[in-house]
Amino acid sequence: MTQRFRDLLALEPLSADELTFLLDQSKPFQEIQRHPLKKLATLRGKTVALAFFENSTRTRISFGTAASRLGADTMNLQAEASSLKKGESLLDTVHTLDAMKPDCLVMRHASSGAADFVAQHLEIPVINAGDGTHEHPSQGLLDALTIRDRLGTIENLNVTILGDLQHSRVARSNIHLLGKFGCKFTLCGPAMWVPPELEKIGAPGVSIRRVFRIEEALEGADVVLVLRVQTERQYEPSISAEDYVLGYQLNSERLRRAKPNALVLHPGPMNRGNEITPEVADGPQSCVLEQVTNGIAVRMALLFLLISGPPEEGAHPLAEALPAKNRRSTDQKDPSHAAR
Ligand code: NCD
Repeated sequence: MTQRFRDLLALEPLSADELTFLLDQSKPFQEIQRHPLKKLATLRGKTVALAFFENSTRTRISFGTAASRLGADTMNLQAEASSLKKGESLLDTVHTLDAMKPDCLVMRHASSGAADFVAQHLEIPVINAGDGTHEHPSQGLLDALTIRDRLGTIENLNVTILGDLQHSRVARSNIHLLGKFGCKFTLCGPAMWVPPELEKIGAPGVSIRRVFRIEEALEGADVVLVLRVQTERQYEPSISAEDYVLGYQLNSERLRRAKPNALVLHPGPMNRGNEITPEVADGPQSCVLEQVTNGIAVRMALLFLLISGPPEEGAHPLAEALPAKNRRSTDQKDPSHAAR
């Protein structure tokens, strides 16, 4: 299947086929992460603008690394250094960046809908790297890829999500993606973080239930997604760290309620000893470091698809870079895709 994606703003509007296509496109880029030489020339001469209007470490580094491994250059705008602090509007800032002629804009912003708004005003592709509490599509994709690799499927799984669901764009993107594959969701956290509206966020027919006892929420889970307690927020009413740990922390004893091979995911940054114990974070069921490695593969695939368009039928974007067993005979026709 060949797809043309103009932007990647959210996973909600994408079909199961489109999502599968994006996951499949990430596979060859996963292989590149295992090579001693990781740099390709696929996007040589292209520029990716990274505009992070909200602080970010791993997502910004991951997109920057993905761009550089494809041979692209990056332009970086960071919130603290930006002219937004001097009163410039979001639109003026992105038009200024656009005038420097990047080929793609990756942006993060604290307001839900910001990436969508910017995409309506720019000709170049826009990738949403997290907008407020709305979506974080590349995180949803990398989580699904990690699950598919470990369990062999993303279909019909029991997915338990723990923590501050109300403010989590990661939870929303996961529900929008995995919900299209028949997964059932159990949401668990302090009542004020798991409001009743959340039961309706999936597509019609997606099963989402709220459970307030963590032991019950973990029963029979195939996947446990642990969210960070967003300590930078002023929670009202507040909950003390001790209460959170007592009530909702994922520890080994609680994890035993889930299926024996259940996966533990966390988008990071992780607060050990708060939402998750070190033994679970470092245990055999934890996927946190695979998530980080897969993040680069997913972001390479997204940048490649949005900047170059889908590969021609039969052609492989990585041609020369892949070991011969993974090449098809027609792959070698475009030398611009060869590794440096
Ligand atoms: C998440 C985010 O920023 O939405 N982190 C990330 O992208 N790796 C989750 C979080 O900050 O808690």
